Formats: sequence, C-alpha cells, structure tokens
Amino acid sequence: MTDTLDAAADAGIAARLRAATDAAHQAAESTTYVTDLIAGKFAVEGYALLVTQHYFIYEVLEEAAGAMRDDPVAGPFVADELTRLPVLVEDLDYLRGPGWREESAAGAATEAYRQRLREVCFTWPAGFIAHHYTRYLGDLSGGAVVAKAIRETYEFPAGRGTRFYEFDRIPSRGRFKREYRERLDALPLTPEELDRMAGEAVVAFDLNRAVFAELAQAARPYPRRLGEPAG
Ligand code: HEM
Repeated sequence: MTDTLDAAADAGIAARLRAATDAAHQAAESTTYVTDLIAGKFAVEGYALLVTQHYFIYEVLEEAAGAMRDDPVAGPFVADELTRLPVLVEDLDYLRGPGWREESAAGAATEAYRQRLREVCFTWPAGFIAHHYTRYLGDLSGGAVVAKAIRETYEFPAGRGTRFYEFDRIPSRGRFKREYRERLDALPLTPEELDRMAGEAVVAFDLNRAVFAELAQAARPYPRRLGEPAG
C-alpha cells in the first residue's frame, strides 16, 4: 500500500479511491492526445477517433451494467441517467455520417480494455465499480473541461457532436457525485477487497492512458492545417 493510501485510510472509501488513482489520473490527463485535443490541434477526424473508441469501450461497460443491475453490491451504482451508448451513436452519426459502424474497429488498446472489462465486470462487483467509477465520475468531472474545449474548436451546432459530455437527466453533477461518493463509502468491503478495488481502478486509468497513446499515433494524419479556420 502506498503512503498516500495509508494517509487516506481513515478518510473513507471514496477518498481512498481518489488518492490511489491520483497519479494515474495525472498521467492520463496529460497524455499528448488529450492535451493536443484540448489545445484544438486536430481536424474533426482526430476527435472522431476518440468518440469511436469510446463507443467500443462503453458497449462492454454498459453491457456489464445491465448484468450487474440486480447485484446487491454493484446494483446501486447502475443508473440509467449515466448511459452513454445512445449519445455516442448520435455523436458518431453526426461526426462520421451513416455507415460509421461498418467502417470502425476497436484499436488494440481498446480491445485490451474491452477484454479486461469482460474478465472483471461481469463476475466481480467491486471490480465493476472500479471501472464504473473511473469512467463515469471522470465524464462528470473533467469531461466538462474537454467538452468546452471541443465546442470552441469545432463550433458544432447546438446539441451536436458532444452529446457524450451532456447528462440531460442529471440536473446537478455536484449532487450526483456527492451521492455517488456516499454509496462508495457505504460499500461493505474488507481492507483487502478495498485494496483490490483501488488496484483495479488504477488498471482502468492505465487502460485509458493506453487508448490515448494509440490515438496519438492514429490522429497524426489529422492535424489542423496552418491557417485553417475552426469548424
Ligand atoms: C482532459 C483531461 C482531464 C481533465 C481536465 C480532468 C479533470 C478532472 C477534475 C478537475 C476532477 C475533479 C472534479 C471534482 O473534484 O469534482 C476530475 C475528477 C476525476 N477524473 Fe478527471 N480529468 C481528465 C481526464 C480524466 C480521465 C482520462 C479519466 C479516466 C478515464 C478521469 C477520471 C476522473 C475521475 C474518476 C475523477 C473523480 C475523482 C474523485 O473525486 O474520486 N479524468 N478530473
């Protein structure tokens, strides 16, 4: 266990999860692909690559949510207002036009992520929660920063292209996150299980970072040309 984890040991499960993933969070948010995307360096195709990989990730994560819905430990975390697959489809229809599904595949890093989700999220409730936390609490937090930058870069019409970052059925993200953390703190976990869950959340962050690393390569053909107007 790390010192940070020890320091957070009395602070509750939510705080421990946050402390355990702090370094992995910083690593994920400072990858080249993410910083270039936020800096507006890609033509729209470079952004659409991320939306496409999100589609393949959420396909498995939300299938797992369906499987865990009635689980006594993981079930309370499953919330229909979080579901992202339909809005990812809307974004991809807009960004890539009809036929995108046939022309798309999960990259190797995304496939490894899907494989881990399949291994962990259908049979291990705390493992599912670790992956659920990593994606949805991130989408509700840093997602707002990413969405703002994307809208400024591409000037999409209202309601188009960034539906993934909009949670129409969550009126207060702050309140939702507070209640989510309360649910985390109420989990009936032994210290060993908590360590294992925190470890799985770090794995989840690392899998996301690997997807970004792969995207950085794929996005190379799509830099915004010098002098090209936004949009
Ligand atoms: C542009 C990149 C990112 C930015 C600017 C960013 C920013 C932030 C900020 C400001 C918070 C704190 C929100 C709060 O206290 O309510 C946060 C929380 C979080 N982020 Fe990110 N983030 C980014 C990328 C990511 C990525 C790639 C992931 C994982 C896939 C992620 C997962 C999380 C999680 C799970 C939390 C909740 C932490 C907690 O309170 O327990 N973030 N992010």
